[in-house]
Amino acid sequence: MSGNELKLIEDVFQSNYIAPLGKYVNLFEEKIANHINIPKENVLALNTGTSAIHLALKVLGIKKDDFVLASSFTFIGSVAPILYQNATPIFIDSDNSWNLSPKLLDDFLSQTVSKNLKLPKALIVTHLYGQMAKIDEIKKITDKYQIYLIEDSAESLGATFKNQQSGTFGDFGIFSFNGNKILTTSGAGVLVSNNPKYGAKWIEKAKFYSTQAKENTIHYEHLEYGFNYRLSNVLASIGVAQMEVLTERVRKKREIFERYKSNFANFKCVKFMPEIKNSEGNRWLTTLIIDTVNYKKILKDTVEDLNQNNIETRPLWKPMHLQPLFNSDEVKSIKNIDNTSENLFKKGICLPSGTELTIENIDLISQIIIKNIKKYI
Ligand SMILES: Cc1ncc(COP(=O)(O)O)c(C=O)c1O
Repeated sequence: MSGNELKLIEDVFQSNYIAPLGKYVNLFEEKIANHINIPKENVLALNTGTSAIHLALKVLGIKKDDFVLASSFTFIGSVAPILYQNATPIFIDSDNSWNLSPKLLDDFLSQTVSKNLKLPKALIVTHLYGQMAKIDEIKKITDKYQIYLIEDSAESLGATFKNQQSGTFGDFGIFSFNGNKILTTSGAGVLVSNNPKYGAKWIEKAKFYSTQAKENTIHYEHLEYGFNYRLSNVLASIGVAQMEVLTERVRKKREIFERYKSNFANFKCVKFMPEIKNSEGNRWLTTLIIDTVNYKKILKDTVEDLNQNNIETRPLWKPMHLQPLFNSDEVKSIKNIDNTSENLFKKGICLPSGTELTIENIDLISQIIIKNIKKYI
């Protein structure tokens, strides 16, 4: 927490406006709008990032028998909404950016056209671990094939490409404020649209679906069904206080990354997630791969040693195309894969990256990894 949260929560309780809405929901949306430089009416505060992706698909009319492209190297919350809409996911592998490969995307789409098959309606591209995907190249491709572009910026709030904020390049962008994100309300999501023509209209429609699709009558009247996805005023007040520290958090996260990076400067087999040209990630998580034949042993011993010091680590996210869920008979999926993300998953590790880390903490973690690298090479 940043310091002002309790004060704002108290204000909510004194107003007795706990839920459903209230002034902090508006204020939270306004803070996001200002930070990412889009109009306030193009921002919608919701209960989770997953709901935000679901509403984007719903508003864009994604339904049964539709196809939706997605980064394979992502978290399940990014793609489960495709299944909620009974559509079929198409997983695209990563490239040297670790994020979605524009080449594999373009190859897949050109083959789809040449085989005269149905084109996907949308792409959900994830900016993983707070680092920007090659969004300008990706947008050119989605424009060429007239496919809606949804940015999963759950992990990349505050990241930029050519000084433009993550989440504002596509038709929709989403942010997550769950417990582990750069900012948290304990749980929340935000849906934004920077589409100049339809953005405000789409957000208005998403708001309608997020509050049970109630018609504008004094009694409860329903022509359609919706969802109960709006954010509470209490959690929004936490979000307002958290937004005060976003810039400082990004600075601190980048500093943590730089410290790790300098600690491994002499170890060529250690490769960090890159930052694409003209971009600045928020370095939400510092992630690296051990790119040597003995990576398995090094990682196994490192995780054990860190655990013994009460330090938690996690492998990189397991790509969606490798998940048993998407290799079952029940759930249909398609993929264009060259094993890049599988290799990252096998060789990678997420390092502790919380902004309360001290230089001594970072150095201790680095020394444990270095000790195990030296043991095996
Ligand atoms: C890449 C990515 N997409 C989607 C989500 C879903 O966000 P939430 O947990 O707020 O539903 C998360 C985080 O959990 C995420 O990391």
